[in-house]
Amino acid sequence: MKKKANSLKTVQYANRIHDIRPSGLRKLFDLEYELSKSSDLKILSFGLGNLNIPVMPEIIEQLKKELNDPKSHSYTSNAGLLELRMAIVEKYRSQYQIDYNPEQVLVTSGCLEALFDTFLALVNPNDEILIPDPAFGYYRNQVQACGGKVISLPLNEHFELDCETINEAITSKTKILLLNFPCNPTGSVMSRQKMKNVIETANDAGVLIIADDAYEGLTYENHRHVCAAEFDQENVLILSSFSKTYCMTGFRIGYAIGSLNYIKPISLVHQLNTACASTPSQIAAKIALQSPPSIRNVMLKELANRRIEVIKAFTSIDGITLNYNPLGAFYIYPEISGTGMTGNQFSEYILNQAKIIVVPGNEFGDITTNNIRVSFGYLSVPEIIEAGFRLKNCLENV
Ligand SMILES: Cc1ncc(COP(=O)(O)O)c(C=O)c1O
Repeated sequence: MKKKANSLKTVQYANRIHDIRPSGLRKLFDLEYELSKSSDLKILSFGLGNLNIPVMPEIIEQLKKELNDPKSHSYTSNAGLLELRMAIVEKYRSQYQIDYNPEQVLVTSGCLEALFDTFLALVNPNDEILIPDPAFGYYRNQVQACGGKVISLPLNEHFELDCETINEAITSKTKILLLNFPCNPTGSVMSRQKMKNVIETANDAGVLIIADDAYEGLTYENHRHVCAAEFDQENVLILSSFSKTYCMTGFRIGYAIGSLNYIKPISLVHQLNTACASTPSQIAAKIALQSPPSIRNVMLKELANRRIEVIKAFTSIDGITLNYNPLGAFYIYPEISGTGMTGNQFSEYILNQAKIIVVPGNEFGDITTNNIRVSFGYLSVPEIIEAGFRLKNCLENV
């Protein structure tokens, strides 16, 4: 006789998610919403890695037309629309002089899916994965969910990664080195020479490089992004996204590109995970890549203006220091210990006193807990100036 399931008993959740903390960044969405209901003062959020700049109208207009074709309403192949994969291959050829073929591209639901599929496909329990500190918090959680062991690589005072740090951390169990430049949360970038040295260091140790290039399209002061695959294509896997480069965060579209040795197993996970990325989003991404680069000029100019204002607003306050002006992404990562507070205390204080949201450094690792991440993706120049006044007022009285 079949045993009757006990409907009152709660099933234990899996060990693999035991140590996963909910993302503090997602909580900020909820907090901003809650506060905006009860506060007279507008909440000014430097919290999220989101952009409030609309997708370029050229992309939207063309997308509307293409959505009339019923083909755009169906699944695509697991790997993604061939036209999109060809456009991605062409981007790497023209921008970085790297020759890939469309079989080496896997289109995913954002870079986040590409990251998680990759870790699921490549990480065994107790494999050691080298992750810079500070870095985008999802890396740690995703690696841990796959049973991997996270080894932190402290960035230097200019928020760069030194080869000595990598060498010291490498053991016989090291499998992957994760790179994220332009960096979330620091906005730091990698020079060509540094990238070359890092790739050589990883190659010598037989370690795979995963480069999260989500912010490759957002650089300042004429810095040109250096793609890790320019130095090696066999042992460098590039993961990237349309979210930031084309203000398409809500479209959830990204990709992995690299050697078939890696793309094939990652595709197996992707197939189980989502079958294929959303077809309308794939079409939008294809249109974005086929459009002239000048369609991004307005957004780039806006972000460059915001960057200047945000640096001014935060560095004019006693106790806040910024040793590094970002050359990429849309974040600054100032140190605030001169105010007598930790990153957590500071964030809480300015939220209560000035209705300003920033993210404490402990969201990005264990080392830079006296820093805060300030995103300029979501506030206009006048709002940043207003935030600067509010900060001055509330911090003068600390
Ligand atoms: C470094 C980094 N990688 C990946 C992502 C996720 O990108 P996507 O929106 O393509 O999933 C983010 C989002 O903030 C990020 O900061």
